[in-house]
Amino acid sequence: MDTRDALQALQQELGPRGFVPGADTEERYLVDIKGTRGALPLAVLRPASTEQVSRALAICHAAGIPVVTQGGRTGLVQSHVPCQGEVVLSMERMNAIENIDADAAMATVQGGVVLQALQERLDAAGLMFPLDLGARGSCTVGGNISTNAGGNRVIRYGMTRELVVGLEAVLADGTVLDGLKPLIKNNTGIDLKHLFIGSEGILGVVTRAVLRLVPKPGERTVALCALGEFAQVRALLRQARQRLGGELTAFEVMWDSYFSRALGIVGKAAPLPPGQPYYALIETSSAGTGGAANLEGLLQLVLEDGTVSDAVIAKSGAENEALWKLRDISVEVSRTLMPAVPFDVSLPIAAMEHFVPRFEAAVRAIDPRCDTVVYGHLGDGNLHLAVHQPPDQPATFQAIQEAVYRLVGEYHGSISAEHGIGVSKREFLPHSRSAQEIAAMHALKNALDPGHLLNRGRVLAHRPA
Ligand code: LAC
Ligand code: ZN
Repeated sequence: MDTRDALQALQQELGPRGFVPGADTEERYLVDIKGTRGALPLAVLRPASTEQVSRALAICHAAGIPVVTQGGRTGLVQSHVPCQGEVVLSMERMNAIENIDADAAMATVQGGVVLQALQERLDAAGLMFPLDLGARGSCTVGGNISTNAGGNRVIRYGMTRELVVGLEAVLADGTVLDGLKPLIKNNTGIDLKHLFIGSEGILGVVTRAVLRLVPKPGERTVALCALGEFAQVRALLRQARQRLGGELTAFEVMWDSYFSRALGIVGKAAPLPPGQPYYALIETSSAGTGGAANLEGLLQLVLEDGTVSDAVIAKSGAENEALWKLRDISVEVSRTLMPAVPFDVSLPIAAMEHFVPRFEAAVRAIDPRCDTVVYGHLGDGNLHLAVHQPPDQPATFQAIQEAVYRLVGEYHGSISAEHGIGVSKREFLPHSRSAQEIAAMHALKNALDPGHLLNRGRVLAHRPA
């Protein structure tokens, strides 16, 4: 089948709502939130069912047309931005919440459902899907699964991988793998769902999933603490874990470089004055009431023993949200450094105290104008860093990346904690994975998608079998 015949067959298969000719592609399919602009695709495919995804992929397979899958397009590693000659497969019409089983505490959803829409439906039913991240209003559950999204509550509930019970995926040739059994225990050979979780769409398209739910917490409370030294941040984390146990659902830290910028963006009265080295945001979630009292008890203790120099606790849902807002606007905060080089690294928490000043010194040695912001999911050992790249010095882009990844390597960290590899970090993958591991990834790719049709060039270089 040649490309023209394939596009005609796709149009016939998907109908007017499911097929948009390349020339009519809307801007949103072309760009990412950093403003990277891709090539005009051959077409935008908007299937409405697994069967349509399967038939569309089979047609593309027959014609050798590469396919880039899109969810909410909030990824930060340039994966969904179309490359020359690709069709876009947008999951936006597959956004149904098919079933909520309160007894089993599971929901079956289509891949294109927006995370916040699912959260709101479950909230009304007294349940919760624990995954939460700043992009909740636009990211899709299929995208969360294919990137193994992390976010704000990993310290309590784990990454997306821990929250997926069953999964349906479509392979490059259109084969549907139905792994949707709602069973927690199912040791029946290789657990194929894990191939599709976190592999960034290079092995298959996630069409539906069975998700693990928890009861909606009775009470959720957020506090913000200011701290003077990194040893105190570690002590606070230790104390929070000890005293709050399973009620501790977030432990986020913002360095002042981040916090003071975030205050400037929000523009309201600051909950705590800027200028302290560290700000920790702690969230507790309790089954009944009592979580707030436990958090207050913790704050009293750490204020008295001098671990924290100042603290505020939210007194209402609105105040919870106001504190979270400072952390949720990370993309806007990083934008104040534009053009900026972003990083998402994992490090042993004990190493962060030394890593951060060395990171700041390393990038300033490249160019003294390289301002930085530092923040992250500290309880998970995950830091986000952004470095301003002086626009008159384009060569510093590569130098900044190399310097930072070299340093991450020194501390045995990971070059990607939760954002993935995509296109932007592909050349640095060998910093975190051995040649043997990368060869095994290529072997899997070549077994399931020998023509490299799915998300070609993302994660792995295009090296067809
Ligand atoms: C955050 C995103 C950038 O944690 O991962 O804000
Ligand atoms: Zn994050």
